[in-house]
Amino acid sequence: MAAVERAAQLILDGQCVAVPTETVYGLAADATNGEAVARIYAAKGRPSFNPLIVHVPDLASAEKIAVLSDTARDLATTYWPGPLTLVLPLKPESGIAGIVTAGLSSIALRVPAHPAMRDLLAACGRPLAAPSANASGTISPTRAEHVARTLSGRIPMIIDAGATEVGLESTIIAVEDEQLRLLRPGPVDLSLELAAGSKIEAPGQLESHYAPGKPLRLHAQISDDDEFLIGFGKMTCDANLSEKADLVEAAAQLFYLLHKADLSGKPRIAVAPIPIEGLGAAIHDRLKRAAA
Ligand code: TXA
Ligand code: MG
Repeated sequence: MAAVERAAQLILDGQCVAVPTETVYGLAADATNGEAVARIYAAKGRPSFNPLIVHVPDLASAEKIAVLSDTARDLATTYWPGPLTLVLPLKPESGIAGIVTAGLSSIALRVPAHPAMRDLLAACGRPLAAPSANASGTISPTRAEHVARTLSGRIPMIIDAGATEVGLESTIIAVEDEQLRLLRPGPVDLSLELAAGSKIEAPGQLESHYAPGKPLRLHAQISDDDEFLIGFGKMTCDANLSEKADLVEAAAQLFYLLHKADLSGKPRIAVAPIPIEGLGAAIHDRLKRAAA
């Protein structure tokens, strides 16, 4: 049986499965089955029930679960499939298990672009709740081996499709009527939409979230002897996010190099300065959390 069919069978049986998306690997379960979603929390060892992102195959499926204003529909049409998550009013008859939204009356939805996740959505015909496929408090996984590092033995299957393309979790934006609120900066840069009359709210999530197991120092020009230096642009370092100082390449490499630094013999990690424009804002957000 093909991997995706096996994964779909496991999901219909109420299990959770690790699957790549274009951003990071997700740990997916049937969003209409509360026990299945509870297994996500159990596998990740999450301390509390944060609301999860629900993945759907298309806009029509999203409309069955949530109420989309004209603004929300415009964003969806522009950026889906892709790394944009919309937080929207939940429809009472959606069938989504209460544990997915942690009891909120809103829901986070996105239409992913990765073929493995899209095939899985098609094969099981259910909306899939999926946070990043890593133990709580550890670095997000951009390769199957990162998933195995913290979840091996705790989940029945990992679909391995190599490194993810984007490497950073989706941008999250709340849409209340025609008002936008940025909840998590990410690969989709919404500064134009937000500038057009909407309020930006700093992400109010867990302070320390993407934590490597070692202290991390930011804006490091040079490293101390006991530091693994993650560089940016032409410089001497242990590993470089992007020698040509390209922010897209840096985003895709970020979690991979944090994993690498974590596994290195050096007890501390340092990261070179990274410009804050464009994707740089999302990279800074993740690094600040890793250092917290
Ligand atoms: O790229 C991604 O978004 C990855 C891949 C696997 O798709 N998924 C991901 O999911 O990062 P997760 O569950 O780790 O991210 C959930 C974030 C949390 O920070 C949560 O606070 C926010 O989404 N969120 C979910 N539902 C929400 C809601 N109803 N209101 C506000 N924030 C919400
Ligand atoms: Mg995560």
